[in-house]
Amino acid sequence: MKTNGNTVLITGGATGIGFALAQKLSKLGNKVIICGRREHKLNEAREKLPGLHTIRCDISNAADRKKLLEKISSDFSDINLLVNNAGIQRNIDFTKGLEDLEKNEDEIDINFKAQVYLSASIIPLMKRKDSAIINISSGLGFVPLASFPMYSATKAAMHSFSLSLRHQLKQKGIRVFEVVPPTVYDTELKGKPIEKAEWMSSSAEVADAVVEGIEADRYEIGIGASKPWITASREDLDKAFGNINH
Ligand SMILES: NC(=O)c1ccc[n+]([C@@H]2O[C@H](COP(=O)([O-])OP(=O)(O)OC[C@H]3O[C@@H](n4cnc5c(N)ncnc54)[C@H](OP(=O)(O)O)[C@@H]3O)[C@@H](O)[C@H]2O)c1
Repeated sequence: MKTNGNTVLITGGATGIGFALAQKLSKLGNKVIICGRREHKLNEAREKLPGLHTIRCDISNAADRKKLLEKISSDFSDINLLVNNAGIQRNIDFTKGLEDLEKNEDEIDINFKAQVYLSASIIPLMKRKDSAIINISSGLGFVPLASFPMYSATKAAMHSFSLSLRHQLKQKGIRVFEVVPPTVYDTELKGKPIEKAEWMSSSAEVADAVVEGIEADRYEIGIGASKPWITASREDLDKAFGNINH
C-alpha cells in the first residue's frame, strides 16, 4: 500500500502512538485527520503539526460517532485509511467482584465496540481502490497481563476481528492491517510516560514500523518485544504468560 497521498482518520491521534503516526504520515504527504475527547489536546496537536485536521469526538458515544461520520462525509469524502488507535487501559481486580468492573465499563466500549462500529460506518465511505483499516491491538492481546484483564481481552478481540474483517473486505479491495506493539514508554496510556526499559519501544518506533509494514503489505505488524508473539506456539505463549505474570 502506498504511504503518501492518502486521507487518513486516526482515532485518539492527539497523543502517544496516534500523534507519532500523525506526524509521520503528514511528513510523507498524507492528509491527516485526528479525533479525541479532549479539545485542549487536539489544539496542542494542531499547534505542533500545522495542517492537521482535528475533530472532537468520543468514539464510544453513538451521537458523537454520527457527527464524526457526517463531518468526514462532507469534508473528507476521499477518506481511504482508518486507524483504529484510541484506547484506554485499566487495572481490574476480579477478587472484588463487580466493583472495579462497574467503574470501568467504558474500556470495552472504547477499545472494542467503538472500533467495530466506526469501521462498519467508514467502510461504505471508502470509495478509493487503495483503502485500508489499521487496527492498533497489542502484544497483550496474544499474552494477557492479568492485572489488565479486560484491556488484554479487548485486544485479543481486536485480533480476532481483524482476521474476520480482512477476510470479508478482501472482495472490496480494502486491506486490513493489525499492529501489535509492545509496551510503549512515551504515551499517556498509563496517565503519563513511564520509565524506559530495554524491551520497550517508543511511539516514533511504532509509527516507523507501521509505515514500513503497510508499505510492504505485511498484514500483521509485530513490533519489538511483541514481534515473536504473533507467530509463537501455544507452549511459548504460555511460557511468556508465566514470565509477565508473577
Ligand atoms: N502504550 C503502550 O504500551 C501500548 C502498547 C500496545 C498497544 N497500545 C495501544 O496503542 C493505542 C494508543 O495508545 P497510546 O499508548 O498512544 O496511549 P495514549 O497516549 O493515551 O493515546 C490514546 C488516545 O486515545 C484517545 N481516546 C481515548 N478514549 C477515547 C474515546 N472514547 N474517543 C476518542 N478518543 C479516545 C485519547 O485522547 P482523549 O483522552 O482526549 O480522548 C488519547 O489521545 C491504544 O489502542 C493502546 O491500547 C499501547
